[in-house]
Amino acid sequence: MGKLIVIDHPLIQHKLTLIRDKNTGSKDFRDLVKELSMLMGYEITRDLPLQEVEIETPVCVTKSKAIAGKKLGIIPILRAGLGMVDGMLKLIPAAKVGHIGLYRDPETLEPVEYYCKLPTDIEERDLIVLDPMLATGGSAMAAIRFIKDKGATNIKLVCLIASPEGIQAVQKAHPDVDIYVASVDECLNDHAYIVPGLGDAGDRLFGTK
Ligand code: PRP
Ligand code: URA
Repeated sequence: MGKLIVIDHPLIQHKLTLIRDKNTGSKDFRDLVKELSMLMGYEITRDLPLQEVEIETPVCVTKSKAIAGKKLGIIPILRAGLGMVDGMLKLIPAAKVGHIGLYRDPETLEPVEYYCKLPTDIEERDLIVLDPMLATGGSAMAAIRFIKDKGATNIKLVCLIASPEGIQAVQKAHPDVDIYVASVDECLNDHAYIVPGLGDAGDRLFGTK
């Protein structure tokens, strides 16, 4: 079973409160999603391997730690996952970015794929799949299945807000994938929206609807 890691640092909880508020407009919403992604990225990169390098300080020659050349990939699920890319890239600027376009059919609630462009060497990379919302889990499960079919083996899923149902579904379908979230909310409503959630993340990010 994959691990569930809830990153509930006070700064993260504070910013989550702000993005949940229906009076927060698109500009602030976008800025906050970026800041939240960067704060989560700090925890997500905790297990990056280090190597010892020799440097010279103004005082002496010494050995010090540096990130070992790990190949990373960030995969936002369009659209809303796009809002998390810049924050994550601030911490891991050398990561390659792949895109998967999925939308949830409002009738069937099933994910429909409409775009995919991935780094050619995803099988060699540690991949971080980004989507602010994990509701039924349909979109995340489809995206993970998709990149696994292209050879990916090392995958983390990072969401801001998740439902218990979505977490359970992803853990069952992809027990090798660890899930990082800022909050596990109460439940899904009749339209499969997360309660209390923040509404439609894509629309709030991009000012649509
Ligand atoms: C939202 C969200 C997730 C998905 C979550 O995207 O960003 O991708 O719904 O729901 P699920 O867990 O039940 O699949 P949406 O389909 O609204 O598309 P958008 O990002 O283009 O707005
Ligand atoms: N997608 C969203 O953007 N929000 C939800 O609450 C559920 C799915």
